[in-house]
Amino acid sequence: MDLKIIHLRKIDSTNKYCYRLGKEGRRNLVVVADVQSAGVGRLGRRWHSNYGGLYFSLLLDLKDSGSTGRLNFIGSISVYETLIDYLPEELRESLGIKFPNDVLVGDKKICGILSEINWDHRFVVLGIGININNPIPEDLRDRATSLRELCKREYNRFEILHKFLNRFRDNFHLEDEEILKKYGRYSKTLGRYVKVITPKEEVIGTAFKIDYGGIYLSTLEGIRYISVGDCIHLR
Ligand code: BTN
Repeated sequence: MDLKIIHLRKIDSTNKYCYRLGKEGRRNLVVVADVQSAGVGRLGRRWHSNYGGLYFSLLLDLKDSGSTGRLNFIGSISVYETLIDYLPEELRESLGIKFPNDVLVGDKKICGILSEINWDHRFVVLGIGININNPIPEDLRDRATSLRELCKREYNRFEILHKFLNRFRDNFHLEDEEILKKYGRYSKTLGRYVKVITPKEEVIGTAFKIDYGGIYLSTLEGIRYISVGDCIHLR
């Protein structure tokens, strides 16, 4: 997979920028920005994007990428496999993926993933934000962390981006079964008692299966399959 990298100092959002380029027919790009003035998170939230973090989006043709679910899984397993090499031995166990695609160290988020699809122009955008050297805002300190905070040193963001892209290229060609197997190994949600908050309801149960479309919970009322929502690990 031949990906061209575009490096921008500042942009509203690398996802939005890719979306604009996608409509013009561009494909196979990685857009990385030092700062985003309007970084977007899941469920319409804002993504803090100050200097020092790694903010990038991949613009791919829909026919090459399968579902956004598949792409999100490839994104999160590739982030996991990239970050594991940067963490000291004692922290490696605590690295994992929380449903659907957050990468955590312990119970703090280090990476978020947001994919978007455009059916008319047939492209997908996979946006990834990793906290590397960026300061974590005061109000998020109990829920988010950065590589610098964990390891007490600064990292080269572009080295991390290149390592990620190598992992991504390898994982991209895997069969679904292999992708799901890796996701299962890295998941911190599977087997846990969780609460999933959807726009309509809150569902509590034990997570026993996750696929590209959602999460299966065993609840007091039976089995529930939930496709979107925020997941909270209860114990
Ligand atoms: C989440 O809410 O967890 C998803 C966060 C995704 C953030 C990344 S940063 C690069 C790309 N550009 C954006 O505006 N968002 C994604």
